[in-house]
Amino acid sequence: MYLQCSDRRCSTVLDIHDRSLSCRRCGNLLEVAFEPELRDWPGLKRIWWERRVSGVPLDRSGIWRFREFLPDLYRPEEVVTLEEGNVPLLSAPRSAAYAGLKNLRFKHLGWNPTGSFKDGGMTVAITHAKYLGVTQVACASTGNTAASMAAYAARAGISARVYLPQGAISKAKLAQSVDYGAEIVQVEGNFDSVLEHLLRTAGGEAYFLNSINPFRIEGQKIFILGLMEQVDWNPPDYIVLPGGNLGNASAFGKALDELKATNLIGKVPRMVVVQAEGANPFVRTWRSGTESLQVLSEPRTAASAIRIGAPRSWKKALRALQFTDGMCLDVSEAEIAEAKATIGREGVGCEPASATTLAGIRKLIWQGQLDRDADVVAILTGHMLKDPDYVIRMRESSVGDLASRRST
Ligand code: F0G
Repeated sequence: MYLQCSDRRCSTVLDIHDRSLSCRRCGNLLEVAFEPELRDWPGLKRIWWERRVSGVPLDRSGIWRFREFLPDLYRPEEVVTLEEGNVPLLSAPRSAAYAGLKNLRFKHLGWNPTGSFKDGGMTVAITHAKYLGVTQVACASTGNTAASMAAYAARAGISARVYLPQGAISKAKLAQSVDYGAEIVQVEGNFDSVLEHLLRTAGGEAYFLNSINPFRIEGQKIFILGLMEQVDWNPPDYIVLPGGNLGNASAFGKALDELKATNLIGKVPRMVVVQAEGANPFVRTWRSGTESLQVLSEPRTAASAIRIGAPRSWKKALRALQFTDGMCLDVSEAEIAEAKATIGREGVGCEPASATTLAGIRKLIWQGQLDRDADVVAILTGHMLKDPDYVIRMRESSVGDLASRRST
């Protein structure tokens, strides 16, 4: 097991214990090399299934249950887990009708221990930090990474420092980081400038746990294994997810690549990444057809989780879209608000960033780019209670009413 440069044209390889986050030769992000040694991969499906009724702590985590796809460095008692990853795949008939699809399911990653998909990555990244003997972890965040890192660091007895764009994240997320005992540093600026500042200045002692950390990606990738098990290893036609810093899109692309390489799936679902119109650097890059990121210096969207103008993992995400024959698109603020209210009326709820998925699916159907019969899974990334102020604000505008009329 080793680390390698994520740019396949660069052959840089690093020891798995190296704490670097980017390639010293070309500057691209690193990834954990997955070596599919000869093993009975299909036989693992049964083992993974049987672990569902096991009382062993590692098996009770919906991430570590699939540990054959994770770094095999850690002793079981070293693993830092909150039994994350055991989240449902929900049918969503009202949302399907709203979008114009026959069938739609939501994989709700917001129903993880701290209320977002970050927990899948954090259980692995904090376990790795502990394994390395790290005493301090840090991240920049629009709120969810911070909350998750704070919780897992607390479990591990590691001190956590979170850097947040002042006044630009939801109070509920800030409260989580405070509650879990992290040191809070509020910085003037937006997420991109805060992350830039952190990477430039805070080096040395702290270990960074933004999604540029390859061990975060390893954990998040496991959600796709959980999803495939839930669909009995018959992949859907599409997996639709929001895009911010693009760690999740990178993780899901890596999972699909590895599942295909081990023949655990026969077909690769097409991945669709959705961004908000005012924070759409990846969509712009995709449309430009070039390999240079179209940075936005002042990204704007009320979906504060994805208010990001310079996504760090864009190259990995681009590779994922290419590999899965996927696409990306953006949606307006009104479309996000209406989709979010629809998901709420479904009795499911999510945070605004997650609702870009339903808005995107609806748009693709209207544009004739998505077939009404397609089998689609949308990834909801955050819990409804992550941003209650948004709901109240929308209630006071006409958007919420419109959605409620549509869905009755
Ligand atoms: N949805 C939610 C709820 C998020 O919190 C984020 C990112 C995304 C989607 C986008 O995921 O960055 O992997 O493309 N939140 C980060 C944070 C940036 O700091 O909590 P991505």
